[in-house]
Amino acid sequence: MNAKHVQWLNDYAPQILDAVVDAILTIDARGHIQSVNEATMRQFGYTESELVGSPLSMLMPEPYRAAHQQFVDNYIASGEAKIIGIGRELEARAKDGRIFPIYLAVSEIQTENGTYFAGIIRDLSAEKAAEAAMLEQRERLSQVARLSTMGEMTASIAHEINQPLTAISMYAQACVKLLQMDNLDRQKLVDALTKLNRQALRAGAVIERIQRFVRQEDGERQLVDINALVKDLSHLAAGDARLHGIELRFDLAQGLPNVYCDPIQVQQVALNLIRNAIDAMHEIGCSNGHVLEIGTRLLDGAVEVTVVDCGTGVAEEHMDLVFSAFHTTKQDGMGMGLSICRSIIEDHGGELNFRNNDACGCTFYFRLPVDGDE
Ligand SMILES: Nc1ncnc2c1ncn2[C@@H]1O[C@H](COP(=O)(O)OP(=O)(O)OP(=O)(O)O)[C@@H](O)[C@H]1O
Ligand SMILES: [Mg+2]
Repeated sequence: MNAKHVQWLNDYAPQILDAVVDAILTIDARGHIQSVNEATMRQFGYTESELVGSPLSMLMPEPYRAAHQQFVDNYIASGEAKIIGIGRELEARAKDGRIFPIYLAVSEIQTENGTYFAGIIRDLSAEKAAEAAMLEQRERLSQVARLSTMGEMTASIAHEINQPLTAISMYAQACVKLLQMDNLDRQKLVDALTKLNRQALRAGAVIERIQRFVRQEDGERQLVDINALVKDLSHLAAGDARLHGIELRFDLAQGLPNVYCDPIQVQQVALNLIRNAIDAMHEIGCSNGHVLEIGTRLLDGAVEVTVVDCGTGVAEEHMDLVFSAFHTTKQDGMGMGLSICRSIIEDHGGELNFRNNDACGCTFYFRLPVDGDE
């Protein structure tokens, strides 16, 4: 810096410090506050005289308070400052007891009177709130998308539930007839009622699966067997496929490691890919074939799920658009399916993508890291 600049800074340092939005304070080697700027008082609600001379730890809730004291003690004993130059996120506490997230960066200042530290504190409340709002919005969107997926599948779901209901009605009629006979065959009656019960359970299971899929809140991550998840899902998709004359085929690798994920969200992704594949095959009247293949395998430390169809494939001019929100080539499409799916998978540290197949149709695949953050 040239002398003129230094002079200017000397003259205006207090105004500059007070104009900064972040809290800037200096601390001595014992961790006691030496000076604060306006923003410090604004952020924490203390007056200058309450702050200066007090330990910095008064601005921290536990466990940061204890950790800070430890840091100061360490520094006094060893002369080694561990967090210098390293910014980090932690929590601060205002005078009124409000706890808020901050980003703290500390630097060392050597003076002829010894070592001091300068701390810059940025209030992250607004940022964190925006982040949380975004997550919540995505969660809601994800739920809406699940409802709409189910809405599209109404015909097949109705069919799926109607079948056991019809069977139940038939068995009930058979039971009435058996009871009206003079010589009651108890064994036949027991058999018929047992079958009736099995059908009722079957209908109940379909409904339960749908409820679980639509209702469950997101965000419950656990170690999941992806093959079991795919099989469970196949019950939801099978009726839909059958209705469109499509055969679901599975090629699931054995011995896959479990993946840390939210099973309902991952099912939502897989079901979306299957729904899209069915749409693409249906659009050309399955003229390329009727088989939709769902596969799993281990690939470079990730579990990969592939959905291989023989539908329309993706046209060259749409290649860059398929994952964009509201891009759809369908008359009644929302164009949200893939964009939500991609954000779910990326949120899991994975990737979702596709390629057109050589022969026909395309393959959508997603990969979830095996050592996801537990
Ligand atoms: N398997 C596929 N084969 C060919 N095109 C596909 C396939 N999957 C997706 N697409 C294309 O990508 C577009 C976007 O898919 P996306 O799932 O995001 O929305 P959508 O299916 O049109 O509507 P929805 O929001 O109801 O899912 C589709 O309209 C279609 O053009
Ligand atoms: Mg879709």
